Amino acid sequence: MENYIYLDYNATTPVDREVLEAMLPCLSQQFGNPSSNYPLGQQAYKAIQQAREQVGALINVSADEIVFTSGGTESNNLAILGVAYANQSKGKHIITSSIEHPAVINVCKFLESKGWEVTYLPVDKNGRVNPEDVEETIRPDTVLVSIMHANNEVGTIQEIKKIGEITSQNNVLFHTDAAQSLGKIETQVDLFHVDLLSIAGHKLYAPKGVGALYVKKGVHLQNITWGASQEKGLKPGTENVAHIVALGKACELARQQLKVSQDHLLAMKMQLLNGLKVHLDNVWVHGQPEMCLPNTLSMAIEGVSAFHLAEKLSSKVAISTGSACHANTINVSSVLKAMQVDEKRALSTVRLSVGKYTTREEIDRAVSEIVKAVTELK
Ligand SMILES: Cc1ncc(COP(=O)(O)O)c(C=O)c1O
Repeated sequence: MENYIYLDYNATTPVDREVLEAMLPCLSQQFGNPSSNYPLGQQAYKAIQQAREQVGALINVSADEIVFTSGGTESNNLAILGVAYANQSKGKHIITSSIEHPAVINVCKFLESKGWEVTYLPVDKNGRVNPEDVEETIRPDTVLVSIMHANNEVGTIQEIKKIGEITSQNNVLFHTDAAQSLGKIETQVDLFHVDLLSIAGHKLYAPKGVGALYVKKGVHLQNITWGASQEKGLKPGTENVAHIVALGKACELARQQLKVSQDHLLAMKMQLLNGLKVHLDNVWVHGQPEMCLPNTLSMAIEGVSAFHLAEKLSSKVAISTGSACHANTINVSSVLKAMQVDEKRALSTVRLSVGKYTTREEIDRAVSEIVKAVTELK
């Protein structure tokens, strides 16, 4: 894979070397069970507590508001199902958006099948939810609003602070899926009026299969799995100590590196976009640049099938498409559909996402590979 250019950091990130170094001892010498009372166990317990502090510090909340999970998907399930089940006496109405990740949408669909009512708010052509729509949709039986912080496909950042003000004024719990925003943009929970926030380790240089859910003090969740009392009974089972330690370290690094990282990501993205625009005159960028993740470039190269482009590039550059091919039929992404992108443009849409290891030299090579592939496909 030498010389391979990875431009799909929104799909996943490699594990940071410092993160790997932090977690490895937990797999060998420091292998104790955190529930054991002798020193080996207590060492593991302390390692988890340190990780809890590190995760809390990144989003500016206290450590005891962090619940470790197996990733973004589980955090979203725990937040939504946990609130829904715990608040049935208040009501069974949930508000979300039409551009959420399947780890939110499909949980809502499941609840609909069990008698809950879900409102899927529309988005504008830039992929943004109008906070006024949230306000107008809240009813006396609304128990939860779940709106993602930043979208994985197009990078659109939502007006979380405004939405949070509305939900807190109306006494409705607010969950945000921050899997894509953490480590890329400022995510200060105390400024957002958020009650629950989902974190996915592998999007911020920790391993796959670990995540966390911030649960604001005083918010009651019904557990969705049953076992012993780990993680206040919300994630029962012996803790994945190594991965939790890795997530803690990754969050510490993300906090220390945020400013530098943001500047770097934006510089790489702009070099990529400007480089492509020099050679291609049919590029259409989705979303508003100032309300977009600094690392995410979602664009249509008109007249070119994104699927064929990604396929052609696949041995040299990793990119993702705005559409998925299943059994020889190509489905337009539901996010682009919700943004009312016409089908032709959606089928030409690629997502390029840079990361902290992306270099200027890689971007130069990526531009020439993409331009070459586009020219050949045309
Ligand atoms: C916005 C968003 N939410 C949730 C998830 C799911 O996270 P995980 O893969 O850790 O389950 C992802 C991963 O693609 C994501 O992008």
